[in-house]
Amino acid sequence: MSENPMRVCVYPGSFDPFTVGHHDVLEHAVAMFDLVYVSVLNNGMKHPVFSVDERVDMIQRMVDLEGIQKVVVSHFDGLLVEYARSVGASCIIRGLRATMDFEYEFQINALNRHLAPDVDTVYFMASPEHSFLSSSAIREIGVLGGSIQGLVPESIENIIAERLRKS
Ligand code: PNS
Repeated sequence: MSENPMRVCVYPGSFDPFTVGHHDVLEHAVAMFDLVYVSVLNNGMKHPVFSVDERVDMIQRMVDLEGIQKVVVSHFDGLLVEYARSVGASCIIRGLRATMDFEYEFQINALNRHLAPDVDTVYFMASPEHSFLSSSAIREIGVLGGSIQGLVPESIENIIAERLRKS
């Protein structure tokens, strides 16, 4: 385990866009850790709707508007476990919805543990009302002109909706 006395974690993801489900996981992580890096994967998706800069700006805006403490918004390239080590994090945070997430998470957990046995992963189960939610569904609804109210954080809903309507 890391010798950093602060409990630091990385909450990584594509966040294309950030959803209320992500927000829920972030709240739990903030309650449990001293510092949470919300970190957008660079070059992860082939055709993201939002650029990495847009996603980082959007999440930062949400953090500022809501006054969420103990959060650093960042982006990263390359291996997640290396990034976690580079910021002094001993934990990775992931959200789990229904069984659909389990196999994928099981696989990346095994690989990450192989690469870095000193970095643990902590999973938060999605609230039942968020278990149906995905960034891809929100993109589809928004692009087709539907309301995304209640699906993304209220503080950034307008920016996300406007951007999706234009894409
Ligand atoms: O929000 P996502 O798309 O489910 O997040 C996936 C993420 C960022 C956790 C995963 O793609 C990742 O860790 N990518 C970095 C590359 C890496 O470390 N690969 C090795 C383990 S698969």
